[in-house]
Amino acid sequence: MDRHLADFLNRPLRIGDRWIPGRLVLAPMTDLGHVAFRHLLAEFGGYGLLWSEMVDARRLPTENPAVSNCFRWREAEKEHLVFQIVGHDPQQMAMAARRIQAEGFFGVDINFGCSVQAICKKGAGAALLREPSRAEAVVAAVRRAVDCPVLVKYRTGWQDDPQLAVALARRFEAAGADALTFHPRVAPDRRTRPPRWSYIAAVKQAVTIPVFGNGNVFSAAACQRMIEVTGCDGVAVGRMAIARPWLFAEWTGRLTPAPGIYRRSALRLIDLLKCHFEPGRAVVRFRRFARYFAANLRFGHSLCRRLATAKDLDAAAETVEAFFDASPELTESPNPNFFH
Ligand SMILES: Cc1cc2nc3c(=O)[nH]c(=O)nc-3n(C[C@H](O)[C@H](O)[C@H](O)COP(=O)(O)O)c2cc1C
Repeated sequence: MDRHLADFLNRPLRIGDRWIPGRLVLAPMTDLGHVAFRHLLAEFGGYGLLWSEMVDARRLPTENPAVSNCFRWREAEKEHLVFQIVGHDPQQMAMAARRIQAEGFFGVDINFGCSVQAICKKGAGAALLREPSRAEAVVAAVRRAVDCPVLVKYRTGWQDDPQLAVALARRFEAAGADALTFHPRVAPDRRTRPPRWSYIAAVKQAVTIPVFGNGNVFSAAACQRMIEVTGCDGVAVGRMAIARPWLFAEWTGRLTPAPGIYRRSALRLIDLLKCHFEPGRAVVRFRRFARYFAANLRFGHSLCRRLATAKDLDAAAETVEAFFDASPELTESPNPNFFH
């Protein structure tokens, strides 16, 4: 492992009035970054912060963790966990943030990045980047509502212009955000074109709060390059973290992965899903994970196909065992064609 990279990633970082132990963080991912997956990741270690899946701000004040699909956590992860909220109305977002603070999480993250139609139709997520004044009002309302760190995740906007991203960053900082996670893609682009890392550099230079760079960090070398090219304060990793949940431990110099880690991780996730979710939800979540995990395998499509028809987690575990008993060929670099 590159000592230089590990040293950087292991440096504590101040966010608002709190410190995080490292600079490599898990990006928020709906259906993927759930409590069971975070539990697996935490067992390997090496992360600075974890992000939840996004939660609808309207529902959050009364959301019941015992039955909620995404508002779930472990006590042990609370101080390292940022809960992400999505919504359009500043007051609703403020109420949701109060609940997050009351539960005792590290902080609250505002989603201005999601460009799926169902969210944008409600004027939330990336749709707010078309309304900078309202987006700023959301950040300001959340800031007034809580003392814990307030973070913002956003993307370039609806036009491919770094100056728009810079202007938004300045507004978010002025409205009281303590850190930004920036994904330099235009809003309609669902990860088809490469992200423009040079825009991260422009955003970093425009503000004094920490900036996490995000987008297509698929290897330790890419992580190092992003840091060098952009000067970002930290790196948020999304899809590759699902494929290799141990990468935080690996890139920070805590672990050198042996081949058995693939089988062990998939089976451990099955156990953790059983422990955190009821069977129906658990198997759906495992199938979502499997698509990314299969990127590590030369014939990953075949594993995916078999897991897609596994009727429950026991069947999924048998499929994983049988697949790895046959010593499948691993790929040096995961195949990003599996990543959607
Ligand atoms: C399945 C999936 C779900 C996602 N859900 C969210 C989300 O709920 N909130 C959010 O801000 N970003 C979400 N994202 C975007 C990621 O946080 C990240 O910006 C994107 O995947 C690029 O980073 P990567 O190249 O490291 O994966 C999601 C991405 C994926 C692939």
